[in-house]
Amino acid sequence: RGELLTLETMSTLEIANLLNMADQFAKGKQWKSERDVVVANLFFEPSTRTRYSFEVAQKLLGLHVLSFSEENSSVQKGESLLDTVKTFEAIGADLLVIRHPENEYYQQIKDKLSIPIINGGDGSGHHPTQSLLDLLTIQQEFNSFQGLNIVIVGDLRHSRVARSNADVLTRLGANVKIAGPYDWMTGFADKYEHVELDSFLPDADVVMLLRIQHERHDGSMSWSKESYHHEYGLTIGREMKMKQTGIILHPAPVNRGVELASELVECSKSRIFKQMKNGVAVRKAVMQRAITGGQLND
Ligand code: CP
Repeated sequence: RGELLTLETMSTLEIANLLNMADQFAKGKQWKSERDVVVANLFFEPSTRTRYSFEVAQKLLGLHVLSFSEENSSVQKGESLLDTVKTFEAIGADLLVIRHPENEYYQQIKDKLSIPIINGGDGSGHHPTQSLLDLLTIQQEFNSFQGLNIVIVGDLRHSRVARSNADVLTRLGANVKIAGPYDWMTGFADKYEHVELDSFLPDADVVMLLRIQHERHDGSMSWSKESYHHEYGLTIGREMKMKQTGIILHPAPVNRGVELASELVECSKSRIFKQMKNGVAVRKAVMQRAITGGQLND
């Protein structure tokens, strides 16, 4: 109880409860653990937002934080993921936050641990806390997900954010469409309608842009930055086609001038920095849930 590996196994009621708790934290709610809790942040892939918003949240919840660096750890001597996490459990960690390049890395370790794991992103699999902070940002804007037109644009096949979001937003009642190069839609094209961004933008409530994940391409990308931006990016001209109430999301880091025009990162429709701020509130709620064994009481 209290672990968070993917939102797929979480009911819409549980998700709503978690979002409401996160929204209370976003509005200034204070909560501190009554017992000493040690959290280890084990990041086997680079991260700025996820790692440090977890750390800010942990410090504000009064938790003891162990920051792990793979380069300076015994992973360099060949120690396995299982032996690394078992070590942190043995020395007193009560909770693990893990990011790892392998899809579903948690399957090989979760049943061998007595402490919960919070998934900070697995390969191109899932990124549940990113998804929750995206949901919180949308909920704060529109109050409900029912009937919202949401288009996810770009490098979907490599995106754990897209995978987590498309499924949960559909379950919550949104109309999810996909856009971008068709051969980047593997795993999505059979489930979601592929639309032309130019024709869908006037109807879109949320335009969710994704970073082109160069590190997960095999070097065969045929687009230059300029040609991708022209064909599929949110240009200044395309932003003007959006409705007044439409918002722009991007999990970041942003390739400015590629997925969207640099000038749009901080435009009035952009909620990109609000997403990051909401990341702290969401991670507080997720860790409160983990520490209290799945209960979300005030
Ligand atoms: N959005 C996100 O996961 O950013 P980081 O990779 O910087 O954590």
